[in-house]
Amino acid sequence: MLSRKENTYITEIGPGTPMGNLFRRYWLPALMAEELPEADCPPVRLKLLGEDLVAFRTTSGRPAVLDTWCPHRNANLFWGRNEEDGLRCVYHGWKFDADGACVDMPNEPPRSRFAEKIRQPAYQAVERGGVIWVYMGPPDLSPAIPELEWTLVPPSQRSVSKRIQECNWLQNLEGEVDSSHANFLHAQLGPDRRPVRNDERDEDLHPVFSILETDYGLAICARRDAGTDKYYWRITPFMLPSYTIIPGTYGGSYTFTGAVPRDDTSMIGITATWNLEHDIPQRPFVEVDANYNSLQNKRNDYLIDREAQKTVSFTGIRGVRVQDMAVQEDQRGPISDRTTEHLGASDTGVIATRRRLLAQAQALHKGTEPSQPHDPQAYRLRSMAVVADRSVPWQELMAEHMHIPTTLTMSS
Ligand code: FES
Ligand SMILES: [Fe+2]
Repeated sequence: MLSRKENTYITEIGPGTPMGNLFRRYWLPALMAEELPEADCPPVRLKLLGEDLVAFRTTSGRPAVLDTWCPHRNANLFWGRNEEDGLRCVYHGWKFDADGACVDMPNEPPRSRFAEKIRQPAYQAVERGGVIWVYMGPPDLSPAIPELEWTLVPPSQRSVSKRIQECNWLQNLEGEVDSSHANFLHAQLGPDRRPVRNDERDEDLHPVFSILETDYGLAICARRDAGTDKYYWRITPFMLPSYTIIPGTYGGSYTFTGAVPRDDTSMIGITATWNLEHDIPQRPFVEVDANYNSLQNKRNDYLIDREAQKTVSFTGIRGVRVQDMAVQEDQRGPISDRTTEHLGASDTGVIATRRRLLAQAQALHKGTEPSQPHDPQAYRLRSMAVVADRSVPWQELMAEHMHIPTTLTMSS
């Protein structure tokens, strides 16, 4: 449970808010590269951290992000003409380059120097791993791109998808660090109509949780008994500001999720699966429309099938990610009221994640910059799901299973 003040502090991300300032220290995955498929392609709308932006790709192929409201008289640059390395407002023809400089002002006298005084807010953008990342913080603190493994493997060995989720970003992140929900929300029903565990090692429904504070964020560890002499460990890394890798692999593929705030009541969900050995199918986690909105959504009750809920699945909702969305998009509204919660032992990961976020935002508020934005190698991580002798310390298992080799190098 959080106080009302803490709940506001941790969820709000607009300009000038403490958590908004924290998010403005990191590169954020915001657009699929395919949204800007080629040089001079149509601009796209982008909402990020409560700001209305427009993204485009310049003639030279560079992704660019500007404030969407024209500084002349607030027309929307989304209608603009993307031409010759800049975006030209269609109202009176002012043109801006990728850095926000006003490079043409055709409706002013030829000798006017007015354009030199005009600057449109512009944010750095870069393409990595099939995604366009945006940095919205102070230019002099520009961070390094996090070396997440899925951004380092060949494109055919990863599948990245995007969806808009209609809730505050923290609700999605909390779901990712809460491993106890998987045995319920995502369960299938057996012939006896009781939930079937994905894995017999999950039969122990009461794992013991522990948390390790790390340079990237937290290692959230769930330990279950496996026979009399072994433990089954599942470790989820929470990487600041809002990234996780769920424990274990599906067919050798890992799964990354990023909960990126659009505004206080909606977010961009980026999910990436990747495999180190072979190509994987390019498949979205959620069926979406052209604007990345889920076809199963709160307006159609996520197409819940109550008969299926009795007979084959715990929720009656098709798709793991949609099951998450159904519960996360309305937890007493799009911004959950955390003053009314009752948290138990299984919420250890959720509690620790909130604490770390609050501490990091408060530290920044007092002038201490976060370290992760300048430590890209801290993001060279996997999740872990292993059975090991009880005598082996989990920190040792983490060192062996979670850190990825430095031989994989950055390519765009
Ligand atoms: S409003 Fe954009 S040029 Fe006038
Ligand atoms: Fe889930």
